[in-house]
Amino acid sequence: MPNESRLNFSSEELLANVSTKDPLIVKGVRCHGGFDADGNYHSPRTLWRVPAIRAWQEQHRATSPLPLVEIPDDVVPPHAPSVAQTKLLLREGVREPTVRLLTQIAIVEGFGAMIRELPVPPLKSFIREDTAGTALEHLRSGLFEAHARDEAGWDEEGGHRQMWDAARDAALSNPFISPEIYAAMIAQRGQEPPAMFPALGAPVERPVRFMVNVLAIEVFARSTFAWAEQVLSDEAVSDAPGEAADLVRYIRSDEAPHVEYLSTALSEIAARTLKSEDGKEIAGREVVERLMDRALRTMIKQRLTDRPRMLRELIRATAGNRDVEELLAGYDALATPWEPPARFRDAAPQAGAAPTGY
Ligand SMILES: [Fe+2]
Ligand SMILES: [Fe+2]
Repeated sequence: MPNESRLNFSSEELLANVSTKDPLIVKGVRCHGGFDADGNYHSPRTLWRVPAIRAWQEQHRATSPLPLVEIPDDVVPPHAPSVAQTKLLLREGVREPTVRLLTQIAIVEGFGAMIRELPVPPLKSFIREDTAGTALEHLRSGLFEAHARDEAGWDEEGGHRQMWDAARDAALSNPFISPEIYAAMIAQRGQEPPAMFPALGAPVERPVRFMVNVLAIEVFARSTFAWAEQVLSDEAVSDAPGEAADLVRYIRSDEAPHVEYLSTALSEIAARTLKSEDGKEIAGREVVERLMDRALRTMIKQRLTDRPRMLRELIRATAGNRDVEELLAGYDALATPWEPPARFRDAAPQAGAAPTGY
């Protein structure tokens, strides 16, 4: 077993696999991870990465009074559409919303490859305190690379991008995928948000913001993945309840190290002091908390307003000869009610506004 008291690891170690007996093959493509002799799935690149993250977390707890950065459950809206809404649409033969959402998940996973390109200035240039033996020291030497490979695949080996496409195609019998879905997501990516800490400079704020955003996406994705597993495992609406749901389960288990290392690195920043270009100092905690607040606000609004609107338009556009008002009334009745916590109330739609349909 790897020695958990160590705090320094080579990138080869952070990318090393647990040895497995059988590979995971999906639609003829070899994917990451594998199965031991008892048939248990092992996530890729976890031999040293998992104990390393645990050791850095222990080091953080031992040296800082601040808890690990966490996104509390109560700020994460339930998935829209709900499992019941999705099953209603599939039973009614309105498949496009589910096809689109599953395709969007695969695309977002593929975007995960961008994290390997994220520049991080030398830590000493913007962090006042020592950073020896931290997750921060390993971001560009193993952690980002492992994350990128998990999400987008590596070399000949498929990752989450390919696994989601396969789960969708198995469960919904190879639906037509409009290239417009990808184009729309690229178009939506938009511009960089305005700087929150101009004194820090973009090269410092950008990687912190990027990690905050990815952590929020990973945590929100938990409910998305739980939704997908419940829908795709139901033989009443899924053509491959076993195979598709297994794939989603493997993906879900692969995600745990992403949440953990990002939370650890951000906690290490929060526990330290950031130096601005002109010599001013800003508490890392303030930087992480304010960037997180903005990221959560944006994502709550996206889930409560933007996505339900997109889904309703798609249902209307693809309902065919069905009575769409009746279908939408049944759909609305199956929404999961949810209230954001008080501090995020202003990110949610106003009472009495158009139905969110979620
Ligand atoms: Fe993923
Ligand atoms: Fe992930």
